[in-house]
Amino acid sequence: MRISESKIEEIRNAANIVDVVSEYVQLRKRGRNYIGLCPFHSEKTPSFTVSDEKQIYHCFGCHNGGNVFKFLMEYKKISFIEAVQELAEQFGIELNYDDSVPEGQSEQEILFDINTEVARYFSNNLLNDGEGQIARDYFQKRNIKVQTMRAFGLGYALNGWENLVSFLKQKNIDLEKALQLGLIGRNKDGRVYDKLAGRIIFPIFSPNGRVVAFAGRKLREDDTGGKYINSPESIIYVKGRILYGLSFAKDEIRKLDKAIIVEGYMDLISLYQAGIKNVVAVSGTALTDDQAQLLSRYTKNVVLLFDADTAGISASMRSIEILLRKDFDVKIATLPSGEDPDSFVNKYGKDEFEEVIKRSENFLEYQTAYYEKQGMFNDPTKAAEAIRELVRVISLVQDDLKRAFLVKISRKFNIRENLLERELDQVLSKNKVVPKFQENLIDTKHNISTKLFDEKIRKFSTPQNFNFEIEIIRFLFGNDEGTSKYILENVDEEDLEYEIHSYIIKKAKETYNTNLSFAPGELLLEFDDEVRNYILSWEKKFITEKNYDTDDNIQRYVQESIRRLRERNLELKIKLLTEAIQNTTDEEYKKKLLIENKDLINKKKELLKFSGIS
Ligand code: GTP
Ligand code: MN
Repeated sequence: MRISESKIEEIRNAANIVDVVSEYVQLRKRGRNYIGLCPFHSEKTPSFTVSDEKQIYHCFGCHNGGNVFKFLMEYKKISFIEAVQELAEQFGIELNYDDSVPEGQSEQEILFDINTEVARYFSNNLLNDGEGQIARDYFQKRNIKVQTMRAFGLGYALNGWENLVSFLKQKNIDLEKALQLGLIGRNKDGRVYDKLAGRIIFPIFSPNGRVVAFAGRKLREDDTGGKYINSPESIIYVKGRILYGLSFAKDEIRKLDKAIIVEGYMDLISLYQAGIKNVVAVSGTALTDDQAQLLSRYTKNVVLLFDADTAGISASMRSIEILLRKDFDVKIATLPSGEDPDSFVNKYGKDEFEEVIKRSENFLEYQTAYYEKQGMFNDPTKAAEAIRELVRVISLVQDDLKRAFLVKISRKFNIRENLLERELDQVLSKNKVVPKFQENLIDTKHNISTKLFDEKIRKFSTPQNFNFEIEIIRFLFGNDEGTSKYILENVDEEDLEYEIHSYIIKKAKETYNTNLSFAPGELLLEFDDEVRNYILSWEKKFITEKNYDTDDNIQRYVQESIRRLRERNLELKIKLLTEAIQNTTDEEYKKKLLIENKDLINKKKELLKFSGIS
């Protein structure tokens, strides 16, 4: 179903976010905004802010935020479309879907309905039909309880050419649509036939619990088809965007803030039955970008539990990379050889399984151990290859502290740490740790009057500098008002090399100076969407790794960051000036540069004296 942009706009205009949020959160007015206790995390003092003017909400405790649709999606755990529908209904706006179906159901709705009917039919075959005994026996042998079969809508497709076809005809279901869904096929002479005949059936659900596809597992020896036959992709089923079991697991994943990813349908079902419910299955392939994106709505912590065979290992490796790029914390768990999660949990039970998850290792440990097992570290050429690969993966982790930790792990395996660090530096300076969308905003600044140095300074910009600056921005919008004020009073826009950062500081200082009072929340609302999203993208990381336990430590950290930034900037300029002085033949110009240089050297001395280092 598609809803036109203009409709969405109309709903957004009608549904005032303050009214909508007020239904769920007690808000009170403060200044230009409303504040209340955040519904997305538990807190005693309100850090949940709603802006009437901007029609957005934001929590400064857990950093959830967005527009009115996002609020409903998050609060009720529903999809965008559902949020739109709910608000349309509430505010009396008629939804005309801009599809080819002018009245009645949309194409997608029709397909969903067919799948629902068919799922019921398969389920009934399994639970009640005489022929279903073979499938009931099969599930019993695999220790699946009737209650579980019901919960997952498991089914059985009667053996034969036209059982489902007859059912569809009897229900007046359009066979063309059933063909489109891959439930039936058509042979050369035009006859339609059941495609999943004689198989046990796993309905595949969307995150909201609608049946988008089916998987049929082979049951009989004389079935010559593959082990699984899956529905083809259709307008309601894009394979790479579905995670099997997510509709069952999402609440638990959110609650535990962790997801376990397994390969197979049966793995997920057996774990669920055993009481381990924060599980999704990728269905025998590596995770896709879209699947990672989908999962990130619920958690950023993942344990991969793939089979220990070659296919499983390579799926793990590829999935690790995809997850790291999306900023997940990734761990790998391994089962004894020959076991999969289904067989393991049935043999050893829930507690043993949980032990396995507890023992899961950091992805780097896993990869390093794997290369070691392959004997790669015994041969210098292969060792270099392995290290390069490890470094490439580490460089995907966008955080200095995490990276430092990872480098330490390498010690365990006797990889020389400085070797890793050097490689890492190289990789990092090649692809700077800078989010893409703001690349055009980045520019380097300096105080030197001569334009000559522009190019060079740009080249010398380091990822380390970038990271110091990010820390300052993160603390500026952090929870600690004292620190925010400290930054506003001590950091100058000139201290920051990246245009976007000095812009943020400049604007923050202006707001601070005109209002005289200060709340990070209100400050954030001063920025336009792009800059605000940029700030928030860093803030999210901040809450996941709180290393600075006391206010005192934070202030000292910030102080140190500022000092190092200033020092670096000065050093760079001194270096460039010295070079220019040596190269120029123009005496007038040289004199000017010498004065500038002396000035910088004095500044540096002062800086060091101030920090007590000199
Ligand atoms: P059981 O053998 O019944 O325990 O199934 P399993 O899910 O453990 O199967 P396996 O470990 O062989 O495969 C893992 C997952 O890969 C399955 O759940 C399927 O999603 C997928 N898969 C395996 N074989 C096939 C196949 O032949 N076709 C398709 N489309 N998918 C498959
Ligand atoms: Mn299995």
